[in-house]
Amino acid sequence: MDDALEQPDLSLAVARLRDGGLVAFPTETVYGLGADALNADAVRGVFAAKGRPSHNPLIVHVTGQEMARRVVAPGAWSARAEKLARAFWPGPLTLVLPRAAVVPDEVTGGGPTVAVRCPDHPLALSLLFEFGGPLVGPSANASGRVSPTDAAHVREAFAADQVHVLDGGACQTGIESTVVDVTSERVRILRPGVVGAHAIAHVLGEAVEEHGSVIEAADKDGAALASPGMLASHYAPRTRAVLVEGPELEGLLEDYEDEAVVVITHALREIEPPHELIEMPPDAGEYAARLYRALREADTRDVGLIIVERPPVSNTDAPGNAAIWAAVLDRLKRATSI
Ligand code: TXA
Ligand code: MG
Repeated sequence: MDDALEQPDLSLAVARLRDGGLVAFPTETVYGLGADALNADAVRGVFAAKGRPSHNPLIVHVTGQEMARRVVAPGAWSARAEKLARAFWPGPLTLVLPRAAVVPDEVTGGGPTVAVRCPDHPLALSLLFEFGGPLVGPSANASGRVSPTDAAHVREAFAADQVHVLDGGACQTGIESTVVDVTSERVRILRPGVVGAHAIAHVLGEAVEEHGSVIEAADKDGAALASPGMLASHYAPRTRAVLVEGPELEGLLEDYEDEAVVVITHALREIEPPHELIEMPPDAGEYAARLYRALREADTRDVGLIIVERPPVSNTDAPGNAAIWAAVLDRLKRATSI
């Protein structure tokens, strides 16, 4: 089939963006709520539509290194940034670097840094190229809720006249990009994703601080959150959700004899009615790709509780899989923290 035939007409989307409007676009991770990153009014529109606290900065999406250099401070596109972009872009890795003056305060939460990434999705890249400039792109959901991995999820969250939605089908990766701070002496993972510390360390040839130790250090110092996305409750369904180990599951189900619950599990299990089951794939990457869809589906069932069985994070796993499981577990903990 001719690829050119598959490319939708982007002129309407680009016109919206030039007007300061909002265009949701697919990426390999989740759908983003796009706006002109260099237009402060347009960026304020993104915060308003999402109900997002203004101190939580946005990721700037770019076509590649050349556009990235336009949004970071002169000389700030470091050897580290170049190595990581070469190895992982386009892809699910976001780099935090000193910002350029041209980036509005609205994008960075008033801070001295800017987060940049080049998404690995043909529609996102075409949009960026046709628009010809950087786009902010937080996940296209109401703040604090489950991220969208399908165009239908975006349409549920926003009115049609408020957000123009580009439909690129289901997202392949399914969880948000790894956010890595390359401004400090020690490279630090601010948000875990499918690109793990091990892979980053390998490319840079230096040690990388894992997300877990970044969180621990912040807790100990009582320090301001380096990345507001580390806020505990996030990615949450509306129904109460808990994360349990396999052996705890039976007892919990007995406690809920009179009220239906839905169980999300990677393990083969029989669940007696009125309880319901959502089966997850045992493979790390496939589990991640399905995670948000499963949480949304569980939320639509008429149940009092969502029980997620903790997936198997085995330390004998290949480092790549271990990183994906760690990122999945991070999202599950947030989804079940209230
Ligand atoms: O995969 C993704 O990254 C998706 C797709 C659409 O690209 N976008 C996404 O954006 O997840 P959002 O806004 O939902 O999450 C951005 C994360 C937040 O945790 C935010 O705190 C962090 O990146 N962040 C943004 N700018 C930052 C900065 N300058 N310093 C530290 N963290 C930053
Ligand atoms: Mg988000």
